[in-house]
Amino acid sequence: MTADARELAAHFDLERLTPEFYVNPYPTYRALRENEPVKRMPNGSYFLTRYDDLVTAYKNTKAFSSDKKKEFAPKYGDSLLYEHHTTSLVFNDPPAHTRVRRLIMGALSPRAIAEMEGDLIRLVDGLLDAIQAQSDEKGNFDLIGDFAAAIPIEVIGNLLDVPHDEREPLRDWSLAILGALEPVIGPEAFARGNNAVKDFLAYLETLVARRRAKAGNKPGNPERDVLTRLILGESDGERLTAKELLHNCIFLLNAGHETTTNLIGNGLVALLAHPAEKQRLIGDPSLIRTAIEEMLRFESSNQLGNRMIVEEVELGGITMQRGTPVTLCIGAANRDPAQFPDPESFDIGRTPNRHLAFATGAHQCAGMALARLEAAIAISHFLARFPDYALNGEPVRGGRVRFRGFLSVPCTIER
Ligand code: HEM
Repeated sequence: MTADARELAAHFDLERLTPEFYVNPYPTYRALRENEPVKRMPNGSYFLTRYDDLVTAYKNTKAFSSDKKKEFAPKYGDSLLYEHHTTSLVFNDPPAHTRVRRLIMGALSPRAIAEMEGDLIRLVDGLLDAIQAQSDEKGNFDLIGDFAAAIPIEVIGNLLDVPHDEREPLRDWSLAILGALEPVIGPEAFARGNNAVKDFLAYLETLVARRRAKAGNKPGNPERDVLTRLILGESDGERLTAKELLHNCIFLLNAGHETTTNLIGNGLVALLAHPAEKQRLIGDPSLIRTAIEEMLRFESSNQLGNRMIVEEVELGGITMQRGTPVTLCIGAANRDPAQFPDPESFDIGRTPNRHLAFATGAHQCAGMALARLEAAIAISHFLARFPDYALNGEPVRGGRVRFRGFLSVPCTIER
C-alpha cells in the first residue's frame, strides 16, 4: 500500500467526489479495500468494499435492513419521491417486500422470459438495420441512443404492455427518478425527480384504469403482461393496494431500464478497450454467456447498494450501531482479489465468476434473467453485424456514481 493509496482511502467521502473518480473509481475502491475496507464516512455512515463483507451484509437481513423510511425522510421530506422510493419493494423489508416480490417473480418466470426471445431478436435486428442505414447516410451513430437505450425501454414497455406510442417519456422519467438516488442531490434534481413521479403516476393511473376496463371490466391477460398480473394479485387473494401497485410498476420500469442500457453500453465499450477479447468473442460466439458475466463484473452498471443497521453488528472488527447507514460498493467487491484472480483484467471466459452485480440474498435482482437475455442477444447480434465498430468521438459518461454508464458513445461501423 503506497502513501498515495493510503491518502486516497483516508480522504474518501462519497459526498465529495472528484471528477477523476467519476471517470475511474477503481483505484479508489482498491485503496479502500486494502486500507480501510469498512470505511467510516464523515457523515457517520459506513462504506464497504470487500466481497465477503458485502455477502455478509446482503445475507444478514435482520441486522442490515432495506427499509429506507428513516434515511429518506430528511433527504426527500414529505414528497412524492419519498412516497415512491419508500413504497417500492427494493426499499422494504418483509412482510411488504415478500408480498410484492412474490407477485413480480411470478411474472418474470423462466417461461415468460423465454417467450420474449423472438420479439427481442426482431427488435435488435431492426435497430441494427436502422444503424446501418444511418451510417450509410451520416457515417456514424450513437451506441447508446441508437442501440443500448432503445432495447430495455421496449422490453419493459412490452412487459407492462404499454402502448408503443406512449413509451417516449418513460426514459426521462426513469433517469430523473433514479437520479434522485445519488448520494447528494441539488434542488433541481429533486424537483426533476418529484415531477417525474407525479407524471409517471398520472400516466400509470390511466393505464391501470384502461386495463381494468378492457374487455367488459375484465383486465388483460395475466400470462402476458405484468401489470395485469399485479392488478389481479395472487389466487389466494393477496393483492397490492393502489399505491403499492403504481409505485412498484414505476420501480419495475426504472429498475430494468438504465441498468440494462448500461450493461449493453459498458460491455461494448469494454470490448473496444480490450481488442484481443473482442476478437476472441467474435471468433467464438459461444463465449457470449461468460462474456456477459464478465461485463457485469468488470463495469457493474449498478455500483452501490444501501442498507441500514437495525441491530448492532460487527464487521471487519468494527461494531456498527443501530441507525447507521451502510453503502455496499458492488464495483469494489467485484474486483476483490480475494474472490477473483487477477481482478483488474477483463477475461470474457472467466469461470467461476460469482460477481455481485445483481446483489445476492433476499433482494437479489428479480430481473437478472431478463437482463442477461437482453444483453446476450444485443451484444452477440451487434458483433456479428458490425465486427469492426469503432469510436469516432469522445464517449460522454452519465456522471453518476450509483449507476455507471454512458450518455452517448459516438461510433462508426467502419466497413
Ligand atoms: C444489468 C441489469 C441489471 C442490474 C445490474 C440490476 C441490479 C440490481 C441489484 C443490484 C438489485 C438489488 C438492490 C438491493 O437490494 O440493494 C436489483 C434489484 C431488483 N431488480 Fe435489477 N438489475 C438489472 C436489471 C433488472 C431488470 C431488467 C429488471 C426487471 C425487469 C430488474 C428488476 C429488479 C427488481 C424488481 C429488484 C428488486 C428485488 C427485490 O427487492 O426483491 N432489474 N437489481
